[in-house]
Amino acid sequence: MPFTIAIDGPAAAGKGTISKAVAAHFGYAHLDTGLLYRAVGAKVLAGADAIEAAQALQAEDLENGDLRTAEVAQAASKVAVIPEVRSALVDFQVAFARRDGGAVLDGRDIGTVICPEAEAKLFVTASAEVRATRRFKELSEKGSDQSYDDVLADVIARDKRDSERATAPLKPAEDAVIVDTSDLSIEAAIAAAVAAIEAAGA
Ligand code: CDP
Ligand code: CDP
Repeated sequence: MPFTIAIDGPAAAGKGTISKAVAAHFGYAHLDTGLLYRAVGAKVLAGADAIEAAQALQAEDLENGDLRTAEVAQAASKVAVIPEVRSALVDFQVAFARRDGGAVLDGRDIGTVICPEAEAKLFVTASAEVRATRRFKELSEKGSDQSYDDVLADVIARDKRDSERATAPLKPAEDAVIVDTSDLSIEAAIAAAVAAIEAAGA
């Protein structure tokens, strides 16, 4: 039986961490849909056309280890405003969401556009400063020399582009449960997510 858990929210809110834990808890498959846009963004940085890159995207493109950089994140949010890029990526996501055995998808538009019929919807958020602090720590640990101020500016620019675009903007679905992780430990955030999903019938 399909059971789709849609987890949306802004950059570095904790979507990926919560999605992985929730998928393990319920024994569901997990898709980080940001990787699709990051993979297209990386191809554009390498000289490709955005729409052609999205139409030709292969599963192995998601394995590219360099998709987590700040440069690729910005490129991802730029290609993500192009309607033809988004539409080229829909079928793969919908098929993943409705697979038998349950699926967790995290992104920006899962509960609103990709899977409005999802059985459970969460909108995971946190203040921009908390999110930038988390992302700064992650990037520093990976050897990046980006300053905190640059990371904060990047996060704010990406949130603005993601929220203001005409096609599939970042916003909570009307029936999403909001999980604000600003003051939550990872364990507490996961517990809140699991409780909301159990309440939805998982
Ligand atoms: O997927 P998304 O960009 O929304 O965020 P993430 O990659 O899951 O989390 C970003 C960082 O915040 C990671 O280093 C998490 O360990 C950390 N985090 C946290 O400190 N507290 C939480 N409640 C959730 C995530
Ligand atoms: O991990 P983080 O939240 O920083 O970013 P991500 O989830 O990997 O997404 C990178 C970019 O892809 C976002 O800033 C969005 O512009 C775009 N994206 C989207 O438009 N729709 C999705 N379902 C997922 C990501």
